[in-house]
Amino acid sequence: MTDASVQVPPGERTGGGGGDGVPLLELRDIAKHFAGVTALSGASLTLYPGQVMGLVGNNGAGKSTLVRIVSGVQEPDEGSLLWNGERVRLRNPRQARALGIDTVYQELALADDLDATANIFLNREIGWGVGPLRINNNKRMRREAVELFERFGIQVQASGADVRSMSGGQRQSIAIARALLGGSKLLLLDEPTAALGVKESGHVEDLVLRLRSHQVGILIVSHSVEQLLKLCDRLCVLRHGQMVGVFDRADLTAQDVVSLIVGANA
Ligand SMILES: Nc1ncnc2c1ncn2[C@@H]1O[C@H](COP(=O)(O)OP(=O)(O)OP(=O)(O)O)[C@@H](O)[C@H]1O
Ligand SMILES: [Mg+2]
Repeated sequence: MTDASVQVPPGERTGGGGGDGVPLLELRDIAKHFAGVTALSGASLTLYPGQVMGLVGNNGAGKSTLVRIVSGVQEPDEGSLLWNGERVRLRNPRQARALGIDTVYQELALADDLDATANIFLNREIGWGVGPLRINNNKRMRREAVELFERFGIQVQASGADVRSMSGGQRQSIAIARALLGGSKLLLLDEPTAALGVKESGHVEDLVLRLRSHQVGILIVSHSVEQLLKLCDRLCVLRHGQMVGVFDRADLTAQDVVSLIVGANA
């Protein structure tokens, strides 16, 4: 099943927002239940490299459940997941990461007392030797971090300052940079700017647009209609665990998005 076959009320349109060839990610009729609660049902979408897909819906709509399924944290009860056209089973986040699927959560796992470079290379340090005899090549890691920051327009001091002292937007950018260094092809962002101020959110938004121009696919959960309209090519709308449809950004006004979320125009 593709987006086009998702059942939507008259007047609501599904997908088709660009993308040629084989999608990076395809979800077919995904469902997840928890002890009688349907957290997610009928979720079908396609996402191409260089596309930003917004995931919207009220609290409890199933957005994080969908993110957890694509990131390998939870397995779906029904449906299938295709990566570059091939059916895959993601049993854990490690398997997802090996494919190039990375997730940046609101509660970031950064090491506060290390600088940006050390955080980016945490547990995958470049150096020589093994175990206690291991020597890190700090100079090379620093150089690669600086290059990465320049390429993606990340405004963070690569070395010297602990990330503890950095702003929310900078910390978020470091977490995203960490994923990019691992060769991320699809980035899942679950409310990346919920706790950030206007300026910091702007930095993260700029970064998302830059990633998109580097052909990274992005699935972003946000409650900000303004942000979604600014960043997304398409919006996937969920309501009470049911998938409503996938819509082209170009066809939507802010009022349309609000109506789709609450179901007012059904
Ligand atoms: N592990 C779980 N056990 C039981 N119920 C769960 C579990 N995870 C999610 N649910 C339920 O599934 C539904 C969807 O939850 P989910 O976290 O996906 O919502 P959401 O759209 O991300 O909401 P929010 O905007 O509040 O973050 C909710 O009713 C939630 O209570
Ligand atoms: Mg959530």
